Amino acid sequence: MPPFEQTFTGKKVLVTGGLGFIGATLALRLIELGADVLLVDSLIPEYGGNLFNVAGVESKVRINISDVRDEHSMSYLVQGQDVLFNLAGQTSHMDSMQDPYTDLEINAKAQLSILESCRKHNPGIKVVFASTRQIYGKPDYLPIDEKHLLRPVDVNGINKMAGEWYHILYNNVYGIRACALRLTNTYGPRMRVKDARQTFLGIWVRLIVEGKPFEVWEGQQLRDFTYVDDAVRALLMAAATDEVNGQVFNLGGDCVISLKDLAELLVDVNGKGEYTVKVFPPNRKSIDIGDYYADFSRIRSVLDWKPEVPLREGLARTLAFYRKHLEHYR
Ligand SMILES: NC(=O)c1ccc[n+]([C@@H]2O[C@H](COP(=O)([O-])OP(=O)(O)OC[C@H]3O[C@@H](n4cnc5c(N)ncnc54)[C@H](O)[C@@H]3O)[C@@H](O)[C@H]2O)c1
Repeated sequence: MPPFEQTFTGKKVLVTGGLGFIGATLALRLIELGADVLLVDSLIPEYGGNLFNVAGVESKVRINISDVRDEHSMSYLVQGQDVLFNLAGQTSHMDSMQDPYTDLEINAKAQLSILESCRKHNPGIKVVFASTRQIYGKPDYLPIDEKHLLRPVDVNGINKMAGEWYHILYNNVYGIRACALRLTNTYGPRMRVKDARQTFLGIWVRLIVEGKPFEVWEGQQLRDFTYVDDAVRALLMAAATDEVNGQVFNLGGDCVISLKDLAELLVDVNGKGEYTVKVFPPNRKSIDIGDYYADFSRIRSVLDWKPEVPLREGLARTLAFYRKHLEHYR
């Protein structure tokens, strides 16, 4: 076990959004590492939380169905914890435009109140926040590094940006050790495939597994993809060292690929499948960021993190998971 993983043995670890895609994958790893894991999740049906995500380990983890907007619950739940992985979030860009206040409450206000709970009840805790590439908006240059201007194109991006900066502020002003990882498109087993709220790739995967055609909008846009195990490793590495406190880090993928080529790759890995190329629906186009891929050299140099699971392999693992378990994710 590498030293950063040994850090978690016997540690008390709280994961908000712990029944979601990334949170649950992180929880499974933390349990393997011998951590004492507490998951907090609201299980709001439109979001990615799913009890099946922790199937088989229910007896090894404590689960608290609470909403991070509930300051009283959070004040209690942060107490005694060594590490907080703060992953609870509203992830849909479209939902954030249709219901901006809920996004504000979860992605910004609740983040502030979680940090207030830490300040008042557990100032020694270490916090890692799951931020997003969405806060950059339309890139001025590629690959995007952390010095790029933050100019979000949707409400979700603005609120996640605020959530991220509350963490950095509380680190700098109050000494609550915190850092943020700006995740790019993350994919893998346990992602939401019911709809495109979490990622368009989710709905592609579901439809191809069901033997139905999926839609590619335009298809020329460039993207990078992080396999979920790589994202989890970055979260663990960031939690295990104080060198990262007060900093923000991009994650990235092992390659840059257009969505059309991704569709081709998915069909190839699946062995069969069909898709149609369509124009962008206007309401999506207005908040689209165009091409995006990250420069992740900062986290590479500070933590020696880089993506290890190639896209083809990650897609194969994802398809295998949903071929077996799709009924739990429809
Ligand atoms: N998946 C990606 O590609 C990606 C990219 C960038 C950033 N992120 C960030 O990573 C984090 C985890 O994302 P994910 O992909 O696992 O999504 P997810 O929807 O599967 O996980 C988020 C979890 O948070 C829970 N949650 C939402 N609101 C809550 C509330 N008010 N109280 C308690 N729990 C609540 C949901 O039930 C869900 O289980 C999010 O903060 C997201 O913004 C994800």
